[in-house]
Amino acid sequence: MSSKTFYITTPIYYPSDKLHIGHSYTTVAADAMARYKRLRGYDVMFLTGTDEHGQKIQRKAEAKGMTPKAYVDEIVAGIKELWKLLDISNDRFIRTTDKQHEEVVQKIFKKLYDSGDIYKSEYEGWYCTPCEAFWTERQLKDGKCPDCEREVELTKEESYFFRLSKYQDKLIKLIEENPEFIQPVSRQNEMLNNFLRPGLEDLCVSRTTFNWGIPVNFDDKHVVYVWVDALSNYITALGYLTDDDSDYKKYWPADVHLVGKEIVRFHTIIWPAMLMALGEPLPKQVFGHGWLLLEGGKMSKSKGNVVDPVILVNKYGVDAIRYFLLREVPFGADGIFSNEALINRINADLANDLGNLVSRTVAMIDKYFGGQLPENRQAGDYDEDLKNLAASTTAKVEELMDKLQFSSALTEIWKLVSRTNKYIDETMPWALAKDEAQKPRLAAVLYNLAESIRIISILIQPFMPNTSPVIWQQIGIEKGMETEWESSKIWGKLKANFKVNKGEIIFPRIDVKKELEELETIQQQVQKQTVKPEDKTAAKAEKKVADVKEEQQLISIDDFAKLDLRVAKVISAEKIKGADKLLKLQLQVGNETRQVVSGIAKYYTPEELVGKNLIVIANLQPVKLRGVESHGMILAASTPGDEKLVLATVDGDIDSGSKVR
Ligand code: MSP
Repeated sequence: MSSKTFYITTPIYYPSDKLHIGHSYTTVAADAMARYKRLRGYDVMFLTGTDEHGQKIQRKAEAKGMTPKAYVDEIVAGIKELWKLLDISNDRFIRTTDKQHEEVVQKIFKKLYDSGDIYKSEYEGWYCTPCEAFWTERQLKDGKCPDCEREVELTKEESYFFRLSKYQDKLIKLIEENPEFIQPVSRQNEMLNNFLRPGLEDLCVSRTTFNWGIPVNFDDKHVVYVWVDALSNYITALGYLTDDDSDYKKYWPADVHLVGKEIVRFHTIIWPAMLMALGEPLPKQVFGHGWLLLEGGKMSKSKGNVVDPVILVNKYGVDAIRYFLLREVPFGADGIFSNEALINRINADLANDLGNLVSRTVAMIDKYFGGQLPENRQAGDYDEDLKNLAASTTAKVEELMDKLQFSSALTEIWKLVSRTNKYIDETMPWALAKDEAQKPRLAAVLYNLAESIRIISILIQPFMPNTSPVIWQQIGIEKGMETEWESSKIWGKLKANFKVNKGEIIFPRIDVKKELEELETIQQQVQKQTVKPEDKTAAKAEKKVADVKEEQQLISIDDFAKLDLRVAKVISAEKIKGADKLLKLQLQVGNETRQVVSGIAKYYTPEELVGKNLIVIANLQPVKLRGVESHGMILAASTPGDEKLVLATVDGDIDSGSKVR
């Protein structure tokens, strides 16, 4: 066994039967990292699990007439199935209802109580049940939870408190002196400026108003606050404070806790403070990734686009889904998920670029040499260029993977895929095949192609663990020396006498139109089965979209120049029958009149609009809204949730059609 260890965790999941592809994101990313480290010779501990206590679960179980345990058991079984389907290679799965976990959390609580870091007092404040988070009056946003903007409940109860405030300075120092501790860097500033520098208050760490939790063993009308319970999983799973703590000694501190950005706060403030109080080492890094969202906002199974991971995996295969998740969005940033983007990626990157490369190469070796290349091979133009790129790709991938930059690592691998495809165009094997004298050159070209494919097949393993063995089978190699990670750094490892086997196409091309229609039908069925989401969820969703927009990468002046913004004078406006949010406007834009449909009926009457000088995006593709054609979009400013909306106008009189820039 290797002496180098690597401990990686995902958050432990709330038991929910509505896990969507966004939930799979953290786990797939952690899995790719765990696989990568194993390939590099590390002794890896990859932990995931479920976070099963708390008021939220208790209420849901009650609503179903079940005991909380029976309720979670069923769902946890489903979550385990999902991870199997996604080929998640976790070494351990912890449930916070596991006996060992419960006992150790009690010991941790007692230890902190004995050392004076936990004390008894009275809590009066606000609690957000969906987030299982306490808030002070000051932290509320318009009287609501600052995280999810839902209603909070006033709570007053006798409670135990953790002396979080005592650790404020140490935490600030930790973050300032260890830039690696919170990644990406933007999240460091968020923690420092929004939470740590304004000041920490002691944290309420027990509850008495419900009982679905771990009892405080010296005062059992209290249960341990779910986040203290949940965060402890990272060490209870390793046997911390048990008779056998060998795994704890071996793997702790964690190399990285991978978490979604909304829970970075718990992992970089409460968790290190708890560990400091326990006198234990701190995790080396907390990486907060972004969210996968839908065009319409937050992801949910009832919205447009099929986001059910089971349906998606069954349709396109697990490797395609894993590839998409890790390639589409730079790890750390938010991104939009759509079925169209998924299918386009599969077609372009997997079917065209990678799939074709493998099948063309295998087919040519088969056709021109009966499946086996002769030893007599002749080097030629373009070879060096391909070899150099192939031999240098692994180092780049390693550098990026070590920073958890999955998308960039895949981009590097795909540069090699493209370069290899280009090599086919440059060397034109079909032309060489026509001339018997060129056979040695043809053999060299095909060897180089197969060798490049071998290197690619090694590098994609962390992301697409099922695809690599299929490629190996087709290029006639077996798992072993030729497939080891280190061998991807050396050109020419593919044995001269390899024999190809024509096989199935690894990623068949998808008919985009047909497939999107099919997915639309599936989604309609899902929608029929799902209860309509509540209004407040919609408001929250809109806020999330606003958040993504804010987080999106900067655009260049050229990007902005693509917009044709014009001054437009409203000639007339009218309501649209059956669409109470929409107004149909006729706009004068220079010499032309254009019709625009806009969702502003709630904010403006048709009469107030006539004569106004607005700003229109004139080069937007026309769309039909409720059957009415709309040629452009008018600009407006709105508050989150669109409670207030005002149209953007120009300051002063100017001809309609004037360009806005
Ligand atoms: N139980 C807590 C974690 C406790 S860890 C000590 C929790 N669970 S969760 O089920 O809500 O979330 C699990 C993971 O899924 C989080 O990392 C979260 O960010 C991630 N995601 C859930 N929806 C997501 C998207 N739409 N996109 C990306 N990741 C998302 O939080």
